[in-house]
Amino acid sequence: MKIVMVGTGYVGLVSGTCFADIGHDVVCIDIDEEKIEKLTKGVIPIFEPGLDALVKNNVEAGRLTFSTSLKENMPGADAIFIAVGTPSAADGKADLQYVYAVAEEIAANLKDYTLIVDKSTVPVGTGKEVEAIIKKKYKGGFDVVSCPEFLREGSAIKDFSRSDRVVIGVRTEKAAKIMLDIFAPIKCEKVVTTVESSELIKYASNAFLATKISFINEIAHICEKSGADVEEVAHGVGLDKRIGPKFLKAGIGWGGSCFPKDVKALDQIAGSHGYDFKLLKSVIEVNQHQRQHFVDKIKKHFIDIKGKNFGVLGLAFKGNTDDIRESAAIDIIQRLVKEGAKVDCFDYEATANAKEILKDTVTYYEDPYKCVADNDAVLLVTEWPQFLELDWRQIKESLNEPVLFDGRNLLSPEKMREIGFTYYSVGQNHEEK
Ligand code: UDX
Ligand code: UDX
Repeated sequence: MKIVMVGTGYVGLVSGTCFADIGHDVVCIDIDEEKIEKLTKGVIPIFEPGLDALVKNNVEAGRLTFSTSLKENMPGADAIFIAVGTPSAADGKADLQYVYAVAEEIAANLKDYTLIVDKSTVPVGTGKEVEAIIKKKYKGGFDVVSCPEFLREGSAIKDFSRSDRVVIGVRTEKAAKIMLDIFAPIKCEKVVTTVESSELIKYASNAFLATKISFINEIAHICEKSGADVEEVAHGVGLDKRIGPKFLKAGIGWGGSCFPKDVKALDQIAGSHGYDFKLLKSVIEVNQHQRQHFVDKIKKHFIDIKGKNFGVLGLAFKGNTDDIRESAAIDIIQRLVKEGAKVDCFDYEATANAKEILKDTVTYYEDPYKCVADNDAVLLVTEWPQFLELDWRQIKESLNEPVLFDGRNLLSPEKMREIGFTYYSVGQNHEEK
């Protein structure tokens, strides 16, 4: 099939490339000329493990091209996917201006029956809006489809090819058949439902995942007071097949370009329908507090952190990505700097993006050992798996004080204490009464 993917961000570029990899002819469109120029030269503007090779292979196979012109590439398309940003507006609502701008451009250039597939995360009812926009200008046949993405940054390609489910929200059999043809090579359950249910499945999924994380972070607070170990509690709870072990990792909480905006948007959507989503409001509040709780832990150890030097490992909102949107690591660094601490930073991929926010308020290092040396404590705030492999004995020797705050419960408390660290994590330190 011929697919046009509009938006070559973390979602559009991965989805478009993966569609090419399962045999479709894909054109990825973006208004950002520089981004398209880079992609045409084989330069990938984002860090996503395995994406550069996948783009290269599919460009060479002639199945994947890039362009800034949607109009030129619409003729003959079986489906046009909209994967442009849906950022949070000031009041928390999803800002749909980019989705609607693309819908207007499609409406102005549509000639034959085509699917218009919304992959961006949008409030329930957006499909209907897109339909109305197109019907105003185009009297021919088309169908609007909802097909939300469930990709996690850092494992997006694996998530695409080994999806748990593909959700397809349609109004006609014809649209359903074309979508099932597009996804035929992906072996997983295909949930064919209405446009509205599909739109809500996406928000409900992200909100539930965020809820699991805020839940275990609250349990971590009880562990700290009661002497229980949150990792052991999470393990025991997660063995229940009705609960499952994933997304029960306590730490400094969730960030990223999705959870924060999607939970706020869902709270807004509920409110717009006259429902007060009390649980979700608590999930958001717990997550916000988790960052200050980590800073308070540091302040409790040092009493006064003004003038203290911290070596911070991690800037990205999670491991295996360069994305720093709503990163808890960055939020914590900003809180420490505001209290007069000096911060040295290191990240494997996210430093360039972090510099746009932190500017010269911190010092950046290309090497984790140089970043932490001669500091009063190490803070681990992003779960890069490489941090597990660092020589923590060497790190301990290089510090002014052997103090380590593990904001992602990545390391072993026993091993760190055996090395000689005063080791703090989340939900594992029994706070003195
Ligand atoms: C975003 C949202 O975060 C996600 O919730 C939604 O499901 C898909 O869009 P992401 O890929 O991370 O995901 O967005 P972003 O990285 O901001 O990329 C959006 C791309 O769309 C950018 O490259 C931007 O240049 C492009 N764009 C935006 C267009 O091509 N046309 C527009 O009109 C607006
Ligand atoms: C999420 C959803 O998982 C994905 O399905 C959706 O399409 C987009 O949003 P993403 O935001 O890329 O994906 O990352 P994810 O792996 O879900 O982590 C989100 C945040 O939660 C990160 O800040 C991560 O550090 C944190 N997290 C995750 C925890 O704190 N504990 C956990 O157990 C898991």
